[in-house]
Amino acid sequence: MSEFLDPLELRRALGCFATGVTVITTKLDDGTLLGFTANSFSSVSLEPPLVTVCIAASAAGIEGWRQTTRFAVNILSDEQQEISSHFARRGIDKFADTTWQPSRLGNPLLENTVAWFDCRMHQVIPMGDHDILVGRIEFFDHTTRSPLGFVGGAYLHFGLLRQALDAMPNRRDLRVSAVVEIDGKLLLRRTAAGYAVPSAFRLGGREDGSGLLGELAAAGYDAGLPYLFAVYEDGPIQHIVHRGQATRIHPRQPNDELLELPLDGLPLESMASRAERVMLERFLEERKSNVSGIYVGDADTGTLLTLAGGSG
Ligand SMILES: Cc1cc2nc3c(=O)[nH]c(=O)nc-3n(C[C@H](O)[C@H](O)[C@H](O)COP(=O)(O)O)c2cc1C
Repeated sequence: MSEFLDPLELRRALGCFATGVTVITTKLDDGTLLGFTANSFSSVSLEPPLVTVCIAASAAGIEGWRQTTRFAVNILSDEQQEISSHFARRGIDKFADTTWQPSRLGNPLLENTVAWFDCRMHQVIPMGDHDILVGRIEFFDHTTRSPLGFVGGAYLHFGLLRQALDAMPNRRDLRVSAVVEIDGKLLLRRTAAGYAVPSAFRLGGREDGSGLLGELAAAGYDAGLPYLFAVYEDGPIQHIVHRGQATRIHPRQPNDELLELPLDGLPLESMASRAERVMLERFLEERKSNVSGIYVGDADTGTLLTLAGGSG
């Protein structure tokens, strides 16, 4: 370490970079299973599809990692903080109490993750006090679960917002709605008064039919809505709007009420509420510019909170 760099301060500074959390797993030819928690995962190249992760040369399993021909990247969900801590512990059998199944390449895939990548080892590059493992993705999958975050040495839970909202008592003057994308289209409801974003009295879970997620699931959609998009009042109603993506649970049934409409042809002029029209205009704008903020206000005036401190 250079005499000018304070190691503790350097760690703190590097920890300012917010990441997700992964567990990297492999099965050696002799059947030994290895796994470790890593937030140094990064995507490198799409063509060919390459990812990297850095492992400390001092890791107990380093010799195994240097010889293995494959590894899987398991991206942990908001509910898997325990798994993160478990796989960061040394000297235990990490797989004994963990539910997993073999991937097509033979790597252990943990259950209930957000996404996974099944990789062949492309290269191992010793670099300082770590080795860079470069993997070539052969198979992958992803879900709409909320990812676990990590910054400043602490975990970040995006899904807490959802739990906080669900803990609130049901209120007739509260509307929970969502701007939900699916394959480059937007889910909109057709009502007698015009188009509207899907909404309910609460967000709820997928299995309980009384909330928004349950209604979407009943219509065939698995929606992940980790981000808060707007909080505003429209007359006597308080609106909380989430934003996220959906996947189809089963092939789409014809549904006259819930439509998938292309983003470049949204019926903005035919929205039932002016506030929702303005909100969708902002959504399209942010999508283009890759900025995301939270709108707070009422149907006419408000502020767009962004971490850059912008307003509009
Ligand atoms: C959130 C988090 C992220 C981590 N990221 C890494 C990492 O990117 N690379 C690494 O070598 N260790 C990382 N660690 C530490 C390892 O998981 C830990 O040292 C583990 O025990 C190494 O495995 P082994 O020594 O059992 O082989 C991380 C730990 C935590 C809790």
